[in-house]
Amino acid sequence: MTDTTLNATAAASGASATERFLTDKTARPGGGTDTARVNTLATEVLTAVHDVIRRHQVTYDEYNALKSWLIAVGQDGEWPLFLDVWVEHVVEEVAAADRHGSKGTIEGPYYAPGAPALPATSTLPMRENEAGTPLLFQGQVTGVSGEPLAGALLEMWQADAEGLYAQFAPGIPEWNLRGSVVADAEGRFAVTTIQPAPYQIPTDGSCGRLVAAAGWHPWRPAHLHLKVSAPGHEPLTTQLYFKGGNHIQDDVASAVKPELVLAPQPAPSGGNEVVYDFVLDEKS
Ligand SMILES: [Fe+2]
Repeated sequence: MTDTTLNATAAASGASATERFLTDKTARPGGGTDTARVNTLATEVLTAVHDVIRRHQVTYDEYNALKSWLIAVGQDGEWPLFLDVWVEHVVEEVAAADRHGSKGTIEGPYYAPGAPALPATSTLPMRENEAGTPLLFQGQVTGVSGEPLAGALLEMWQADAEGLYAQFAPGIPEWNLRGSVVADAEGRFAVTTIQPAPYQIPTDGSCGRLVAAAGWHPWRPAHLHLKVSAPGHEPLTTQLYFKGGNHIQDDVASAVKPELVLAPQPAPSGGNEVVYDFVLDEKS
């Protein structure tokens, strides 16, 4: 695949994320934040911006460059991308502060609800000859006291071996490497998939221009995305990474935690296998 093709699909991924967010009502609670709270948050954000302007003696040229960049982020459809890459990890940290169960991390912009239902032992939908190292991913979902959560739901989504997501990058079959796995009566699951590749966040839009202008890099380490849920329990949104993988230490989205790093071993049947258990908090 040429750089040009990769860039074209990356741009589409960023814009698709905006479209998806705007049509996903579960991601958009209907407002209701009270006036005092809005006043506090908006005032403190603006005060922080004012402080940066004073401290660094920001010029009109820089102010106008910022203004045109902010306009372009919207035009490129990259607000979900920008927020999920550079802001969401702190929102997740605050939201998960009281959890006793498994660690979670950011959802990111590429979740799509309604992936095909799959039994506890299954293979994610994939193309014939899907590229990548086969991976058997198995484990058990329990509550914090160790009780199995029968029928727990594991929604999985991941990039392919080129770092691209079905539903967001064009040319990939719908629901490729996405599935809603229902655990068995013991909360166990065994899913066959392929190991995803590290990927760059889209580099040809406004987020890419920020990365280049600031001398950052655009890479995310390879990861599986999961949402794990069971009745009476707090849902868990997480990502699992691969030990020794590129960009584990310098994820552009700051979403890696030590508890989320898998260490797959060669499987007797070929490919790799790994066990990872999920512990869900009871609903408060
Ligand atoms: Fe991802």
